[in-house]
Amino acid sequence: MSSTEETSVVIVGAGAAGLTLATFLQTAGVACVVLERRDRAFIEVRQRAGVVDARGVRMFERWGLADQLLAGPVAQTIDYRINGVGRVFEITGDDGSEGRFCTQQMLVNNLLRELIDTREGDVRFGVTDVMIGNEDGPRPHVRYVQDGQANTVACDHIVGCDADRGVSRASIPPGILTTISHEFGYAWLAVLVETPVVGHPIMGASDHGFVAQLPRGPQRSRYYLQCALSDEPGDWSNERIWNEIRLRLHNDTITNAAVLDKEVVPLRSVVHSPMQYRNLYLAGDAAHLVPPTGAKGMNMALYDVDVLATALVSAVRDAETSALESYSDTVLPHTWRYQEFSAWMTDTMHDSGDPALHGDFRQMAARARLDELFDSPAAARLHSDYQRGVA
Ligand code: PHB
Repeated sequence: MSSTEETSVVIVGAGAAGLTLATFLQTAGVACVVLERRDRAFIEVRQRAGVVDARGVRMFERWGLADQLLAGPVAQTIDYRINGVGRVFEITGDDGSEGRFCTQQMLVNNLLRELIDTREGDVRFGVTDVMIGNEDGPRPHVRYVQDGQANTVACDHIVGCDADRGVSRASIPPGILTTISHEFGYAWLAVLVETPVVGHPIMGASDHGFVAQLPRGPQRSRYYLQCALSDEPGDWSNERIWNEIRLRLHNDTITNAAVLDKEVVPLRSVVHSPMQYRNLYLAGDAAHLVPPTGAKGMNMALYDVDVLATALVSAVRDAETSALESYSDTVLPHTWRYQEFSAWMTDTMHDSGDPALHGDFRQMAARARLDELFDSPAAARLHSDYQRGVA
């Protein structure tokens, strides 16, 4: 048996982007349904990004949701180290707004609570066989299967928040999208460990390769270790991980702690455009990927859904569709600016470390770029603006 329902917006994917968009739409009284392949327990424990930048914090304040959704300490410093010698960069701004070390997991859990438990939002977990109906003629619709039952939701707009390998972007016919990408040629071993970060978050260049030490809530931290694209998590024993952290941070006092998760992440940048096709709009990782070096992946997704939520509310409530029609043109300049920032951070932090990577010239040039952040107020200001997400 199959059933057909009606709503205004169907959102595919209940990650940070999809849930934020749904919560904004729900707040504005726009009906929406969220479809998610996984179950709620899975997305509640999924660990990803760690920072909501100052722009993101202001966005949640503007939608009246900051108190309900955000948690974690203020993110206002980064310790940039070269071979263990650190300088603490202060992230400052005139308007007093600050980013937060609010983990993506914390944000997603708060969104689930706010959207489903408080606002009775409609999120359907464990759905399979999602098919996007976005062709000529019939009303836009999404078909899916849940608990063995085929369902169809007819709607006015479909939003793909289902990341890089989701069905939404894949439903767009060949020849419509242009894809521009860049491979950095190396990977990170991303390690989640059961010990808190003490002191400032660290981005460390070293002769032995890049290392980062970043907070993930009161009990956990994330380490990133530059590694070869061909490395497998199994190549990295816990002993090797901790030895390499001590070596690259030049700190023998760090003691081993439990490793909860490790994965190899190739560093790459990708933009698919336009970010819309007919009645389908792409947001977040479905439209673009950045290397994690600048902490912008989740923040770019939040920017997309901020613009899209405003445009969808105008379209649904006021029949004013111009913002929706120009969604892709509005967000792409921002996407590219933060692609550039993420590539700048990635090149600067890796080139300034191991000279075997790109040679002595690029090592010294990258170190000069880092020095400039501390020596030039203009460079510091611009870097702060990028870190805060307001550049
Ligand atoms: C992170 O928490 O993943 C993070 C924080 C700051 C950065 C990069 C990554 O600059």
